[in-house]
Amino acid sequence: MKFFVDTGDINEIRELCDTGLVDGVTTNPSLVASSGKDFKELIGDICTLTTGHVSAEVLATDYRTMLKEADVLSAIADNVCIKLPLTPDGLKACKVLSSNGIATNVTLCFSALQALLAAKAGATYVSPFIGRLDDIGQNGGDLIADIVTIYDNYEDYNTQILAASIRGPQHVLDAALSGAHVATLPPKILRQMSQHPLTDKGLAGFMKDWEQTGQSLL
Ligand code: G3P
Repeated sequence: MKFFVDTGDINEIRELCDTGLVDGVTTNPSLVASSGKDFKELIGDICTLTTGHVSAEVLATDYRTMLKEADVLSAIADNVCIKLPLTPDGLKACKVLSSNGIATNVTLCFSALQALLAAKAGATYVSPFIGRLDDIGQNGGDLIADIVTIYDNYEDYNTQILAASIRGPQHVLDAALSGAHVATLPPKILRQMSQHPLTDKGLAGFMKDWEQTGQSLL
């Protein structure tokens, strides 16, 4: 499973990329707005911190302007991935961009039928939003499992399932168990994944017993 970081906070991205566990970054207009940074400058800075895909979302809702914005975003760096909403215009733009070898991430996916269309449009990634489905009492994890099943039925579908809108470690576990290719994680959740009280307790016990030996390796 690839782990992307889902944030516009450049300091968090730098720190987490330094762990060697991060394969890319996703942003969206809300995350860019909350960063307080210039959009193009922020994406350019993020692209220097990882060699993996950095998702930058178009702001237009019409096909022609989406393509114009995609040209601007693609020119920032070679690892920019164009994020497009899962709308008829977004799918049409995705088809054109993907056909021209541009990496694409079709976002705001909330149904398996939408994901089917994203694959048909040749998307590099489709982003089903787990948390926002859970927020309205539906089961986001079931959507991931359904998309995996559908994509596995068609060998010519190469779209990667990018589990998004992650609200906690359980969402990551469910997505991994279902076979999602990528999970995009808020920084806090990526940090939570390594934490377990028995690990802390066990390490403390090892250190306590080791101190009794009086030895040192260095
Ligand atoms: O960035 C895409 C997605 O991960 C956003 O999720 O629901 O936390 O805004 P959300």
